Amino acid sequence: MSKLEELLKQQAQHQFQQNLRIHRHFLNLQEKFSDNSHPKTFDWNWSATNYNRIALVNMLVSLRGGIDCKYLEIGCESNALFDSVFSNKKVGVDPATGGTNRETSDEFFSSNYEKFDVIFIDGLHKYEQVRRDAINALKSLNESGWIAFHDLLPRNWKEHHVPRLQHAWTGDCWKLAFELAKSDDVDFQILNIDHGVGVLRAKKKDAGVIDMSSDLSEEGYGYFVDNLDVLPRVDWFEGVDWILSYHR
Ligand SMILES: C[S@@+](CC[C@H](N)C(=O)[O-])C[C@H]1O[C@@H](n2cnc3c(N)ncnc32)[C@H](O)[C@@H]1O
Repeated sequence: MSKLEELLKQQAQHQFQQNLRIHRHFLNLQEKFSDNSHPKTFDWNWSATNYNRIALVNMLVSLRGGIDCKYLEIGCESNALFDSVFSNKKVGVDPATGGTNRETSDEFFSSNYEKFDVIFIDGLHKYEQVRRDAINALKSLNESGWIAFHDLLPRNWKEHHVPRLQHAWTGDCWKLAFELAKSDDVDFQILNIDHGVGVLRAKKKDAGVIDMSSDLSEEGYGYFVDNLDVLPRVDWFEGVDWILSYHR
């Protein structure tokens, strides 16, 4: 075996051991939090819709200036979305990987004075954090801009659970969706694509988000299941019609 082959083999073994460790870690956590399990699952097949967050963000970008659109992404990871956005004016915030700014969203917003036309929120998938990101994003949004949110529709209790129990994770961002649905200052829809992508349009300057945290903070996946009908969910085509209605 050549030196290169030996090195590749070692790397593959190392990766395998690493994946095994993560898998065992998640299995232990699933066992630990099994009391939080819930029988309801949703059979949303995201890959069958043929539209995803990248299509949506690029549509919003094209409606808000195209290559001159000022785009902000919170949480970039491997840049799967960030690198696919065709704007020339992009800022990506992530404390770990990807984007342009190595910092948390809280750190970024605390010193940011720029305004953006399209903002995509996909950082830490915990209600309190995504709520803060939404409020800060509203303050950093140009008039007639759009904010989108990833991962608002968990398909089962494990996808929703905080702390995280497996690779596929929406967290409990869905709690913010209930607040946005009830906030008079914003128009809000959830597109039934790609784990649920929320889209928000501010109806006025200084728009805010109503605070239901005293009711929602301690709620579990059962609340989401029991109240799903309250959320304004639309398919891709209805969502596009709604977005375009602002640009006719
Ligand atoms: C689901 S990934 C983002 C995926 C990306 N937006 C996409 O669509 O391809 C979530 C990312 O959020 C980042 N993250 C975690 N905590 C954060 C925080 N407080 N502020 C900003 N990003 C955060 C993580 O490092 C991770 O890379």
